[in-house]
This record gives sequence, C-alpha cells and structure tokens, in this order.
Amino acid sequence: MKIKNLKLLNFRNYENINLDFSDGYNIIYGNNGSGKTNLVEGIYVLALTKSFRGSVDKVLIMNNKDIARVEGTIQDEYEDKYKIIIKDSGKRVKINDNKIDKLSDYISRISVILFNPDDLRLIKDTPSVRRNGLNLDISQINNTYLKLLNMYNKLLKQRNMYLKTTNINGNSSSEYLDILTKKIIDYGEKIYSYRKNFINQINELIPIIYRDISAIEGMKIIYKSDYNDVEIDDMVKKYKDNLQKDIILGKTTIGVHHDDIKFMLGDLDLKDYGSEGQQKNAVIAYKLAELEIFKKVKGSYPILILDDLFSELDRLKINNILKLINDDIQTFITTTEIDKIDKNILDKSRVYKVEDSVVREDKE
Ligand SMILES: Nc1ncnc2c1ncn2[C@@H]1O[C@H](COP(=O)(O)OP(=O)(O)OP(=O)(O)O)[C@@H](O)[C@H]1O
Ligand SMILES: [Mg+2]
Repeated sequence: MKIKNLKLLNFRNYENINLDFSDGYNIIYGNNGSGKTNLVEGIYVLALTKSFRGSVDKVLIMNNKDIARVEGTIQDEYEDKYKIIIKDSGKRVKINDNKIDKLSDYISRISVILFNPDDLRLIKDTPSVRRNGLNLDISQINNTYLKLLNMYNKLLKQRNMYLKTTNINGNSSSEYLDILTKKIIDYGEKIYSYRKNFINQINELIPIIYRDISAIEGMKIIYKSDYNDVEIDDMVKKYKDNLQKDIILGKTTIGVHHDDIKFMLGDLDLKDYGSEGQQKNAVIAYKLAELEIFKKVKGSYPILILDDLFSELDRLKINNILKLINDDIQTFITTTEIDKIDKNILDKSRVYKVEDSVVREDKE
C-alpha cells in the first residue's frame, strides 16, 4: 500500500500544501518545531481519522480557521481518493467523493504502522499501556479479535459488578456467577491464543532484526499470562480458588486483563536494564517484525512512518535500521539530522525540507 499524493488544507501549520511521494523512502527534515511531525500526522489522520498525539480533533485545525481538510491518493490493488474534513463540530470522511456514514467503514482501509518517540512507553510504562498496544496491533490484522475483546470487557464488567454487590459472608456460589465466569474463561482463552500466536510470530523475527541493528543476540518478547501452561479445567479451579479474594476486592483478580509482555535482551528486562538506545532499537525491531506479520496476513505492506526515530541513535544503528527496511515498503522518515543518513540511502530517497510552514523537495 502506498500514498501517492497528500493535500493538506488548514491542517496544523500548513495552509495549503500538495505533495507527491516516492514509493520507497521519503525523508522529511527541518528544525525543531518546523512541522515535520505535523506532515506525517496528516498521513496518519487520513488513515485513522484521528491523531496519534491523543488530544481532541480540533487542535488539528489551523489556528483561527474553522475547517481543515486532508486528502490523499492511495494505491493498493486499486487507486482510491480518501478525504477527511475536520470541523469544530465533528468530521466527515469520503472515499472517491462518496460520503461514508460510519467511520468504522472508513478506518482500517489504509494501513499505517507508526513509530513515534512516545512508543517507548511500550517498554517503560505500565502493563495496561503494553496491553493496549498489543490489542491495537492484533486488531489491525484481525477483525475478530476486537469483537472478542469488547465481549470480554463487557462480561468482566458484569462479573465485577456482581462481585461488588455480593455479601462477603453470604453464599457466593450463584448460578449467574458461574455462567459469567465460564464465559469469561472461554473468551479469555480465545484472546490468550490470539496474543500467544502474535507474540510467537514476533519472536520468530525479532531476534534477527535486533541483531542486525545492534549486533547483539538474544532479543525476545516474553508473554506473561494467567493462562500460560494452564488447561481450561484448571482455569475454572483457579477462578474458584480466587473467589473469596475477588469478592473482598470487588473485582476479578485473574484473567487476560492482567496479561503483560516483557522486552528481554538475554536475561535482562529492558524496562529495568535497557539504555534509551536499546529500548528504542527494541521497539523499532518489534515494529519491523509487525510489518512482516501484516504482509503475511494482508498481502501487502502497510505504510511505515518513523517519526523522530533517529535522535539518540548513533549513525551506524540508524543506517542499519534503514538497510533492514524492505524496498517494497513505503517509508516516511522525519529527522533534524539529515547528515546522519548514508549517501546511498539518500540517493534513492525523495527528500523534503520543511521551513516556515513550506515543504520544498530537494532536487539535485
Ligand atoms: N493548530 C495549529 N495551527 C497552527 N500551528 C500549529 C497548530 N498545531 C501546531 N502548530 C505548530 O506546529 C509546530 C510544531 O510542528 P511539529 O510538531 O510538526 O514540529 P517538528 O518539526 O516535528 O518538531 P520536532 O523536531 O521538535 O519534533 C509548532 O510551531 C506549532 O506552533
Ligand atoms: Mg516532531
């Protein structure tokens, strides 16, 4: 999948720009605050109708204007025109000038994988950040997964509500609770196997990718789950054994809603022992592995956006990463330090300089 052209109108700092892109590398450079992230944010918003910088839509509209528009031509099997119009009061989307009423019919058609410095939270932050990341990744390649997850969360809410209202000393074995618990275990098991499968696939690739970036062996992801090595019958027993505790706490203390993943380098957990650079390389290796899984499932690569990946990485690692990106992947790279990119890579890229809210293509 490629984006051939992008038009931004009153989007962030861009009043009106119209850009054509390379099917390979597109490198966007300029000073801090010049608008590099805004530009790739435009591509992301075109795909997902909202920003990765998680705030309200209206910040996307240029100050003192009341409507922003993002338009792009996407080439996959066919060539289609996508458009999103953002107003204070809401947003509208169109494909080939036909209005699409449900956002969910629009989202998921253009696929994008993004690296943004915030993604380091995947390693550094709490388990729930990692679960959310994992959920987003798996639901991008599998529609059923999101449905399972929504169902699970609904059941969990019902069970927790029941636990909260049950008298601690009362008889807690109700038929209603048993049915809920059984359903939660069934859905949990399904979610577990999707996650396990995804992580297994990541682990087939990530040690090789990480080694190719840093010349260090032993990168892997460890999946921690209450379901690890447990049969369904044992799970039922586990829930029974935990019931008193669940009632006292008023919540369900075991299940896939407590799952976590660990980014390991050999025996070291990168969360506690990894340097900033090692963490960054681990996250990018994860994303590159994800691209391959995506390709296997969907038949074509998503668009790859690397926003500010290079700060804090040395020249060697930067160019190792760039060398690893398959030529079939359309890639957008933003950087303040264009001189850190090897000449042979620059030679096959389209290069854009951002200055004073104008984007100019460098052409020798
Ligand atoms: N709604 C808006 N209207 C006008 N300008 C905006 C709007 N939102 C953000 N900006 C401007 O965009 C600029 C920031 O752009 P951006 O985040 O793309 O910079 P950057 O080139 O990625 O910088 P860095 O190298 O620091 O990451 C700021 O100057 C900010 O004032
Ligand atoms: Mg930026």
